[in-house]
Amino acid sequence: MDIRFLGHACFELSEGDTRILIDPFLTGNPKAAASAAELSPTHIFLTHGHGDHFGDVVDIAKRTGAQVVAIVEIAGELQEQHGLENVADPNLGGTVEFDGGWVRLVPAWHTSTTPSGTVSVPAGLVVHLNGKTVYHLGDTCLFSDLQLVGRRDPIDVAIIPIGGHYTMDRHDAVTAAELVGAGTVIPCHYDTFPPIETDAQAFKQDVEAKTSSKVVVLQPGETHAV
Ligand code: NI
Ligand code: MN
Repeated sequence: MDIRFLGHACFELSEGDTRILIDPFLTGNPKAAASAAELSPTHIFLTHGHGDHFGDVVDIAKRTGAQVVAIVEIAGELQEQHGLENVADPNLGGTVEFDGGWVRLVPAWHTSTTPSGTVSVPAGLVVHLNGKTVYHLGDTCLFSDLQLVGRRDPIDVAIIPIGGHYTMDRHDAVTAAELVGAGTVIPCHYDTFPPIETDAQAFKQDVEAKTSSKVVVLQPGETHAV
């Protein structure tokens, strides 16, 4: 599986003909490594409704017909206000299966309102694709239940926010990495805007000193193969 970082919290997971786009905030993202028009996902998954995650989901889904998976309140908005038809609407704990894999929504501690005002709870995403499991934590602070996710499915790659202010900072993210216990950790949600500037290399050193996880710091546009 290829994991391509597109800036902020946006990633594309691809394997064969499956291209999963997570949190497609591209328009207005100063770190975006692609434009919305350049992407052709087969699936789009959302962690929550904030504009820096919801992003271009409507335009990309309308153009491509990609299946969107979002928590039930956001899924309802996508269908009723935006006219999307290929939408799955799980709640926390729900699993949506697709060709070659599945995605499950797990808790995250944060808030969630879409640009149009739909309120929901936020989620993390556990994505299983062709034998590998990726856990995108979404926007969250540190909380102890992060450790439960890896008990069910060993996590190959954890995508962890480190920028602070709106999420956990790089210090709490070290403890989060300990709790998740992934083989590889990829940091995200930092350096996009001044309030979330941080030192990703220091995060890497701390995680690799305190845990058995390896940290891969991706620049926007770079790909990590699992
Ligand atoms: Ni948020
Ligand atoms: Mn965010």
